[in-house]
Amino acid sequence: MLIFGGSASQPLAEKVAKELGQEAGKLELKRFPDGEKYLRVHDEVKDRDVAVVQSLYRTPDENIFELLLLIDTLRDLGAKSITAIAPYLAYARQDSRFYPGEAVSSASIARLLESAGTTSFLTIDCHLHRLGDVAKVFTIPARNLTAMHELGKYARDHFNPKKPIVIGPDEEAGQWAEVVAKELDAESTAFKKVRVRKEGETGSKVTVDAGSVELKGRDAIFADDIISTGGTIAEAAKACKKKGAKRVFVLCTHPVLAQGALKRIKAAGAVKIIGTDTMPSPISKVSVAPVIAAALKT
Ligand code: R5P
Repeated sequence: MLIFGGSASQPLAEKVAKELGQEAGKLELKRFPDGEKYLRVHDEVKDRDVAVVQSLYRTPDENIFELLLLIDTLRDLGAKSITAIAPYLAYARQDSRFYPGEAVSSASIARLLESAGTTSFLTIDCHLHRLGDVAKVFTIPARNLTAMHELGKYARDHFNPKKPIVIGPDEEAGQWAEVVAKELDAESTAFKKVRVRKEGETGSKVTVDAGSVELKGRDAIFADDIISTGGTIAEAAKACKKKGAKRVFVLCTHPVLAQGALKRIKAAGAVKIIGTDTMPSPISKVSVAPVIAAALKT
């Protein structure tokens, strides 16, 4: 299989290719003077299985268009199969019509990827609260991988946690806390979160209920899929500190880090915040390349 990296994920694609003992495919990507994108594939792809890594972060619309252009080009050049890998799948959170007339964006993205020629799809720790499984959004084979084992191993090797408890800041994140806890041989739990988004607004307010779990003198390690504004983790960290937790650590797969998230979380008392390289960031210390490479082998 030949691995290509779009401009959002070139270094990650190279790491995946290295894990598979090969070099990444060669793409030429630049801009025409009017701002349109120029794309050229420099490898022979006819009758070959190919995979494209393109994470849909920070400039999601631009990254999505480039991914579609690349997939359509690979199909046109005769690729036998095309696996689209979006380690961070933008638009996944809008998986429901919360108010009349809203776009169900997760379904729209899936339809676009399929119609461009994608034959299978991979993502990592995808946020699909209501649907539960990314395979329900696609009609082609689609898998949601997890980076939580790698994050758990990092916590085990670098945090030196005392009496640790791994916490999902909301109920959906309980599944990720469980995986991390196993790597640390620790207990896990999940807080309850209420997010209120008013009609017509894109921002929201979050409250977190820590419940009755005993945290006094313990190290709390949060595990979540996304840190966007950091509001969720900041509220959860404050709740932990109030209950007497000793140190608060944070693990996340996708460090979106919008609107001063890191500052907000540190101010809430977290001592270390670690994410993966599904998108580049100052906290992207753990690579998902082995997770993707392993999935491509099966
Ligand atoms: C939502 O339920 C997710 O799992 C994350 O907790 C959420 O997207 C984080 O967003 P923010 O950092 O803006 O609170």
